[in-house]
Amino acid sequence: MSEFDASQSAARMRDAESSLTGLRERFTVPEDTVYMDGNSLGVHGEDAREALQRALDQWRDLGIEGWTDADPPWFDYGERLGDRLADAVGAKPAECVAANSTTVNIHALVGTFLDAADGTDVVVNELDFPTDHYAIRSQLRVRGLDPDDHLVVVGSEDGRTIETDAIADAVTDDTAMVFMPSVLYRSGQLFDVAAITDIAHDHDAFAGFDLAHSVGVVDHDLHFDGVDFAVWCSYKYLNAGPGAIGGLYVHEDHFDLPPALAGWWGNADDSQFDLDPEFRPADGAAAFQIGTVPVFAAAPLFGTLDVVEAAGIDRLRERSAALTRYLVSLVDERLPECAVGTPREAERRGGHVAVEHPDADRVSRALRDRGVVVDYRPPNVVRVAPSPYFVGFEDVWLAVDELRDVLDTGALEAYGDDGETVT
Ligand SMILES: Cc1ncc(COP(=O)(O)O)c(C=O)c1O
Repeated sequence: MSEFDASQSAARMRDAESSLTGLRERFTVPEDTVYMDGNSLGVHGEDAREALQRALDQWRDLGIEGWTDADPPWFDYGERLGDRLADAVGAKPAECVAANSTTVNIHALVGTFLDAADGTDVVVNELDFPTDHYAIRSQLRVRGLDPDDHLVVVGSEDGRTIETDAIADAVTDDTAMVFMPSVLYRSGQLFDVAAITDIAHDHDAFAGFDLAHSVGVVDHDLHFDGVDFAVWCSYKYLNAGPGAIGGLYVHEDHFDLPPALAGWWGNADDSQFDLDPEFRPADGAAAFQIGTVPVFAAAPLFGTLDVVEAAGIDRLRERSAALTRYLVSLVDERLPECAVGTPREAERRGGHVAVEHPDADRVSRALRDRGVVVDYRPPNVVRVAPSPYFVGFEDVWLAVDELRDVLDTGALEAYGDDGETVT
């Protein structure tokens, strides 16, 4: 007999006991929804809105003077946000900057580190988010390196996860860098960042990470782990809004590397407006900015970082792990038709859970139509992300209960295979 209590009242009780319960009041979840998609797009929050409104008002009141006279000055948004992001990813302030987008930052940093590396191969994995491979392949290509020969793709044994040992087997003295996600976008596996970094360094290669699915929900230690570089976005768990600015980290040992994608926003501040044809890099990670900071795509992050700092990344991680553990237990207990595609050990699990079902596409559409916002990732995954910022245990219970109902009532019959509703 399992001791797990799968009742709605038990979920409600856990919400009442949670130390972070007040957090969700700072966010507005779309009406009548159980929002389990915070790993795709976080929700609107009062803190983000106020920060964005402040930037808009300062544009109205100051015009061009806002670059220097706004509070904070638009001119150094990237550095100021970077200083604050450093805490969330375990870095020194000068090692982080808010800039560009994830994809652009992959281009910028993979290019930079390829130029600095002795080796020529980039080790990635077959379950990566595709944009990472597109960017890396093009960075290899512009250096005259055929991606078919120099992109080394580590395979998965189970289609869900990547073993650290398999990465170790793929790294050789020809490796320029290992570039891995912190969390796989489909299964939610959390990688061992420190171990992978050590593997790369044992072969004099660099270690870079895509933190898109962990920033704001996993407590990283990038500097301590010796990670060489990392990139991320702020529209997922950081809740800074659609199209919000990306971020990057470069270890201080590499501050002397010339950026592969140089631009005037990465120039040293004191000479940026000299408009000198020669690029003079700013100190630290700030040198990897490229063009003008997108002020309105960055401003909301000032507000949402207030929330991260108030809650504390450790406590957010703790709550996230408790929510995903609860979700896994409920799936085990109430959804025998479904499998859990996410590692069960907390230290190998990011912020979301892959609930596998042969009809995952139709299940996802049925859930969305019932107000449970999840997303489908082919071939068989319903991705469920109980963001610790605004999702409670009862929400998780409601999502699983709705899924139980979808399967019990034949609701799937209303959904065709072509993305259309049949009835
Ligand atoms: C793991 C991962 N990397 C990269 C990206 C692409 O980011 P962007 O479109 O902001 O460049 C995404 C988008 O969801 C992602 O999930």
